Amino acid sequence: PLPHAVNIVEVGPRDGLQNEPGSIDTDVKLELIRRLVEAGLRQVEATAFVSPRWVPQMADHTQVMAGLPSRPGIRFPVLTPNLKGFENAVAAGAREVAVFAAASESFSRNNINCSIAESLERFEPILVQAREREIPVRGYLSCTLGCPYEGDIAPEAVARVARRLHDMGCHQISLGDTVGTGTPLKARRMVEAVAEQVPLANLAAHFHDTYGQALANLFAVLELGIATVDSSVGGLGGCPYARGASGNVATEEVVYMLQGMGIETGVDLRALVDTVHWIHQQLGRPVQSRVARAMAG
Ligand code: HMG
Ligand code: MG
Repeated sequence: PLPHAVNIVEVGPRDGLQNEPGSIDTDVKLELIRRLVEAGLRQVEATAFVSPRWVPQMADHTQVMAGLPSRPGIRFPVLTPNLKGFENAVAAGAREVAVFAAASESFSRNNINCSIAESLERFEPILVQAREREIPVRGYLSCTLGCPYEGDIAPEAVARVARRLHDMGCHQISLGDTVGTGTPLKARRMVEAVAEQVPLANLAAHFHDTYGQALANLFAVLELGIATVDSSVGGLGGCPYARGASGNVATEEVVYMLQGMGIETGVDLRALVDTVHWIHQQLGRPVQSRVARAMAG
């Protein structure tokens, strides 16, 4: 059965912008976040406390945190790859964080420079400290429907790492189709395998649209009961360590599809589409998403 309402986690300011080649003013990032909140998004991933040498676009994380709108009930999670990142994030005022692991060994090495097992060890102290401070930790899992280096990934391998993240205390596991190679039945089988290890209510879908499959894949897992979806305004983004990976599924395309099926999102589609056009003007690139183009002006 389809859910009645879906929580959208807007990842544009982080996943969407982390790969942008040109430098983006912190003020533009903050204006983007403000507009997204105005459009009704309640969870907006704001930035990443990763190494500026690896991801220069997120180097202004502390300034972004300092400029966030203070609105009750709005959550601004940030990425933290290790304890250093977590401590910096907390010092900057983060009240919610996310760790990120991969279902594929080669992707783990390329993305965070360590094995899957080592990455989980690095997250342990984050989870311990987060528990003490009552900071919720989300766990991202990359390459759940394929890896840029290894190709197919077994659903059982995904389920194993998801289970570890859940057992460590991650309140939600976000299942990433990082390269966007998945197709609907594959997505369904993967989520079914993970749901044998982690309650479905603790799972989220984080699909990329590289091959134009993201909405179909989402529909397939919504039917299983997945009710949290990650998406990026305008479909911005990609991953610096996944060659050819285009953006996340566009938030406005997800909202359009869900609204059309009578599923609540709390998002004002018109305001969101205006934001898509605005951010593309700022970035100096044409709007890609079909919903935003169809609703232009
Ligand atoms: P490393 O080089 O292996 O780390 O990087 P290290 O511990 O050897 O430290 C090297 C240097 O980095 C040291 O500085 C540290 O202090 C510094 P030095 O002494 O040489 O001057 N350092 C840091 N600086 C700032 N913040 C930190 C930090 N940690 C160490 N947190 C590390 C390891 C994880 C830090 C690095 O590999 C990194 O930052 N990687 C970034 C990866 C990333 O951001 N990837 C994109 C996000 S994941 C994604 O997009 C997928 C997702 O969307 C889901 C999906 O789509 O599937 C989530
Ligand atoms: Mg992503």
